[in-house]
Amino acid sequence: MEKLVITGPTPLKGEIFVSGAKNSAVAILPATLLIDGICTIKNLPNISDVRITCEILEGLGAKINWIDKNTIEVDTRDINNTIAPIDLTRKFRASYYLIGSMLGRKKEIEVGLPGGCNLGARPIDQHIKGFEALGAKVEIISGNVCARAEKLIGNTVYMDMVSVGATINIMLAGVLAEGTTIIDNAAKEPHIVDIANFLNTMGADIRGAGTDTIKINGVTKLKGGQTYSVVPDQIEAGTFMLGAVASRGDLIIKNCVPEHLECITAKILEIGGNVEINGDSIHVWCDTKPNKANVKTLPYPGFPTDLQPQIGVVLSLADGTSIINESIWESRFQYTNELNKMGAKITAQGKSAIFEGVDNLYGASVYSTDLRAGAALIIAGVCATGTTEIYNLHHIDRGYENIEEKFRLLGANIERIIE
Ligand code: EPZ
Repeated sequence: MEKLVITGPTPLKGEIFVSGAKNSAVAILPATLLIDGICTIKNLPNISDVRITCEILEGLGAKINWIDKNTIEVDTRDINNTIAPIDLTRKFRASYYLIGSMLGRKKEIEVGLPGGCNLGARPIDQHIKGFEALGAKVEIISGNVCARAEKLIGNTVYMDMVSVGATINIMLAGVLAEGTTIIDNAAKEPHIVDIANFLNTMGADIRGAGTDTIKINGVTKLKGGQTYSVVPDQIEAGTFMLGAVASRGDLIIKNCVPEHLECITAKILEIGGNVEINGDSIHVWCDTKPNKANVKTLPYPGFPTDLQPQIGVVLSLADGTSIINESIWESRFQYTNELNKMGAKITAQGKSAIFEGVDNLYGASVYSTDLRAGAALIIAGVCATGTTEIYNLHHIDRGYENIEEKFRLLGANIERIIE
């Protein structure tokens, strides 16, 4: 069994380079199935979700050539199978993007019901609603999603709630559909724009991504033949920004998109941290105890739920009592039990939690319950006095490339041990 061993406290100092966005890469890879050609994708984060997706694409007939650890060439001219490797598709959430892509390309697909972080109920009713609006038939049979269509015809889909996954999946299904598809009340996250830009580079006709109305004019074929670079990861950049504040450190976060981080910057200024933007770099430093603050997670451009556990660590060390309201996921406070083992004073109830700030955290053996909770525990371990051991690293490796190396570059005393 692997664990991370961290000895603290250490103020994080130095420069860090942000990788490509996980939540963009795991959608762009299935989107290549819409291309009857070859394309090259750069700035891919080398994480397990990406590697598994590549295996799945090969199972459907794609040929993948790794040019280096973050660049691949994908040849999807010969997609000859419409049943995805079921076990692999159950390992993570974004496997549901195979449905939109393969309905568009081959008019049929069978995948396992998607897995991913246990954050409470994660239905896909909005995805199915969208596919059915374009004329597909979707059934859940023995735990698999089976979707097929004679043909896809563009239609207007109004989303009952803002959903990143459903917005992207309907966009994928609309690219090769006859006529125009309109998605109303669409999600606006940076990765939605990145996927639309990728598809447009390959020959699609998508307009309005990043707004709450997206229009997809169907085209007959995507020929590819282009190179695309994945957008820097907003959530990884935010993780290090909050790490700088929690550890009272001083970081320069490079290769990020400051506009994508405006709400995190605003919250850091509110709690007494400092932020300076310089082109595609952000300088974050904090040399005082953070102020208390209240946070409500919301769809973009609101405070991202995927940074909720990380700011939870900051507020557990703040001056006073703070409240976090989690509006997206039913159970995203599991990490607070682990922080309480480290001396935090957090009371979580359903979709909100009260953080009574303490002066110090102390090392302990803790378990990451999901990807972002794992990142938060690393920050807590860096801030804590003594030695922290973190288990269940498979969660963290799904979404962060070389995370312990990056923290080590910033001065953290951290190592991965195989027991
Ligand atoms: C994406 O999940 C991200 N995952 C999540 O990041 C992120 O937390 C989430 O968006 C919100 O930003 C990927 O991009 C792979 P949603 P997704 O559809 O698409 C409800 C991480 O740590 N809903 O926007 O699954 C749903 O239950 C992960 O990187 C329906 O009810 O999220 C939730 O309450 C964790 N029916 C809300 O909408 C549906 O059909 C938002 O979900 C779809 C969603």
